[in-house]
Amino acid sequence: MVQPLKVGVAGLGTVGAALVAQIARQQEALVARCGRAIEVVAVTARVRGKERGIDLKKMKWFADPLALARAPEIDVFVELIGGAGDPAKAAVEAALASGKSVVTANKALLAKHGVALAALAEKQHVALNFEAAVGGAIPIVKTLREGLAGNSFQRIYGILNGTCNYILTRMEQEGLPFAECLKQAQQLGYAEADPSFDIEGHDTAQKLAILASLAFGTKVDQNAIYVEGISSIQPADLAAADELGYRVKLLGVAVKTDKGIEQRVHPTMVRKDSAIAQVMGVTNAVTVDVEGINPLTLIGPGAGGAATASAVLSDIGDIARGVRTAPFGRPSGRLTSVRKAPMQRHEGGYYIRLLARDKPGTAATIAKRLAQQDISLESIVQRHQAHADTDTKPGSVPVILITYATTEDAVRKALAAVGRDRVISGTPQVIRIEKN
Ligand SMILES: NC(=O)c1ccc[n+]([C@@H]2O[C@H](COP(=O)([O-])OP(=O)(O)OC[C@H]3O[C@@H](n4cnc5c(N)ncnc54)[C@H](OP(=O)(O)O)[C@@H]3O)[C@@H](O)[C@H]2O)c1
Repeated sequence: MVQPLKVGVAGLGTVGAALVAQIARQQEALVARCGRAIEVVAVTARVRGKERGIDLKKMKWFADPLALARAPEIDVFVELIGGAGDPAKAAVEAALASGKSVVTANKALLAKHGVALAALAEKQHVALNFEAAVGGAIPIVKTLREGLAGNSFQRIYGILNGTCNYILTRMEQEGLPFAECLKQAQQLGYAEADPSFDIEGHDTAQKLAILASLAFGTKVDQNAIYVEGISSIQPADLAAADELGYRVKLLGVAVKTDKGIEQRVHPTMVRKDSAIAQVMGVTNAVTVDVEGINPLTLIGPGAGGAATASAVLSDIGDIARGVRTAPFGRPSGRLTSVRKAPMQRHEGGYYIRLLARDKPGTAATIAKRLAQQDISLESIVQRHQAHADTDTKPGSVPVILITYATTEDAVRKALAAVGRDRVISGTPQVIRIEKN
């Protein structure tokens, strides 16, 4: 008779409580699939008496996550406290150091200390699993680490933050300004009281750092990512994108270039007929380009207790089966350092929306400045009526340009020259276009 796998759960909030409930519900299926039972034998959280809607009677309560991490009665330590610092970090380290496998959903911890923790797990010959840290229920970590282990990755990009996708979807569908959609997201519980971490792109960057490491063998390094959020996007951009056959999404992109691995997070125009453009609301999606086969897109719920617990439990199931892989798909000593991509050298198409002064010679001046930087235009649309939200100025008309592939440096130089020529009002809006 194989012994049950004994699990200690640290953190009984949204994810932890859903996990305890799911393990109880799925007992029989887990025995059948993993060959042994999975039992939560011990738990910890901040407040012991809190009503959590789960039955904790048979579980030992620990007041201190570190004590639980070192407890001899558990085989696996599940960290669902969150945050890059202690007690989550100290507890994960303590569990690994005492020879226990760890499962975590903590992207912040992995983005900051992932390589060191992976090295510790490898040294101790235990697992460090984190399927839930990226994309909620979407099995993207396993897909990259195992499902596509024999492929050569070209690019990986995704909608990794449901809050931002919800806001952009509302802006597009209702024509509402950013601030109003953010307020709605907060009322619905999709956005935090301080939403800056999500809307400025940092949450997406933490997840992208993990995906890039799995795909390209780079050291997880959030600081190597260029990050730009969605707060400058206006309904006029979404309306123009729609007319031109695009949608705007906040994407995390990691791509192999001849200068190295470029990692970036920014609002991005994607073709409306691409798989990623279909993803609306809080849903997440990741597209993977590997050599020789068509792109593969995984779409699903990126957050929420049940969705995240499902990924955590799949990781626990692997440990129950005795499956262990290097956390980032190869030994941590073989992960390579990556430098922050200089965005000036980024190559691609661009969407530019500017307010052109309505006077003779304006169009010729703009065309001249673009030509001086070797920028060719795929399309140019002059609107006679401004979109309600654009900062219209009397005597100016909105002009939308779509460029063929060029460099960021060329676009910035051309727009700076146009600004000096005094043929536009305000600051032009620039959105990168991702080929897909
Ligand atoms: N929620 C999601 O949709 C989601 C999705 C993907 C990944 N994640 C990740 O999953 C992890 C957990 O998220 P969550 O949403 O479940 O968080 P949460 O609802 O805030 O729960 C956090 C839990 O940790 C406990 N805790 C906090 N500080 C503690 C301490 N010093 N000692 C012991 N316990 C402590 C809390 O105890 P009390 O309950 O007693 O206060 C609570 O039970 C995070 O890393 C998060 O990034 C969450």
